Amino acid sequence: RKSVNVGLMGFGTVGTGVVRIVSAHQEDLFKQTGLRIGIHKILVKNKEKKRSLTGYEQLLTTNADEIIYDPEIDIVIEVMGGVEQTKPLILAAIQQGKHVITANKDLMAVYGAEILNAAQENNCDVFYEASVAGGIPILRALVESFSSDRITKMMGIVNGTTNYILSKMSREGADYHQVLKEAQKLGYAEADPTSDVEGLDAARKMAILSTLGFRVPVNLDEVDVKGISHISREDIAYGKKLGYEIKLLGLAQRDDDEIEVSVEPTLVHKSHPLASVNGVFNAVCVHGEAVGETMFYGPGAGELPTATAVVSDLVTVVKNMKLGVNGRGMVAPYKEKKLKTDDK
Ligand code: NDP
Ligand code: HSE
Repeated sequence: RKSVNVGLMGFGTVGTGVVRIVSAHQEDLFKQTGLRIGIHKILVKNKEKKRSLTGYEQLLTTNADEIIYDPEIDIVIEVMGGVEQTKPLILAAIQQGKHVITANKDLMAVYGAEILNAAQENNCDVFYEASVAGGIPILRALVESFSSDRITKMMGIVNGTTNYILSKMSREGADYHQVLKEAQKLGYAEADPTSDVEGLDAARKMAILSTLGFRVPVNLDEVDVKGISHISREDIAYGKKLGYEIKLLGLAQRDDDEIEVSVEPTLVHKSHPLASVNGVFNAVCVHGEAVGETMFYGPGAGELPTATAVVSDLVTVVKNMKLGVNGRGMVAPYKEKKLKTDDK
């Protein structure tokens, strides 16, 4: 084989970024994988919509089956969002032996175990780096770089939209509704921004981080959530007078076997590095028993930063295909894989 074909589900903010990066970096991707990566079909809701990236019109389809049941497609990238509409598509793609990459935290926070188990049974890869903190490679770091350590605490800013809003309110005295509109226009906010401003998006990410970091399944309904919609410019100004910034902080900590996970607006003293994380940027402090304090920082949302995470997953899947090791190095602690010899 000389090439691999990708079926892209979604051609919005993230999907457009994926196509741009695959096209702009094709030689470099080839050098890393030894295979040519081609976008074969693109699933959209409305084929007639005006798009910021042209030249791909002939690849558009509104029929997901044209991707799922196309034997020429090896890998599905799901960046359309939603749970009820995407879960059956992803499971069907896995049943067809396709590897899946997704940026969908709504889906992975709730159905991650089911999807990863289905993938293992079908020797497929499922990677979802972009689902948490956009362009920051935090999931891989938790699973691979911290594998020698025991993480006791993760704390940080994991939603770009709310950090963009709070930073602009703090630095410019901007109006909450106005800045939320800006964040939507810039492609940072979810289709329904309620999940950003009410903290649910951050809660989903904290559930994923906790599951991977603590190596035990943490359910979304175990996360205590408060959002920022009730925070006023006056609250922020008052905090600043006392030397604090208000940040929507995710916190996950474990004490022996007790795990606590929460998301809430928090006063962060200006001397703390998280106080100066502004705009769409995210940051996560990870404390390991052996390593001590570490911090990961970068853009938490937006077209190209998010797409870099998706395309990095793509490179991993393609390298695995080349080596014939898909479905073995799953980025999750969910279920021990049964080796064929155990079945006998
Ligand atoms: P957009 O709303 O910009 O794009 C969604 C795309 O999916 C559109 O192309 C849309 O088609 C298509 N789509 C939606 N529903 C359907 C459907 N039922 N059938 C066929 N196509 C459909 O979303 P984003 O790119 O912002 O986000 C995509 C995913 O990535 C979400 O899960 C989001 O949470 C996640 N994510 C987003 C980030 C960001 O910065 N935006 C960062 C990290 C993760 P059409 O174009 O025709 O409307
Ligand atoms: N709406 C999300 C955010 C997108 O603002 O962080 C990135 O996951």
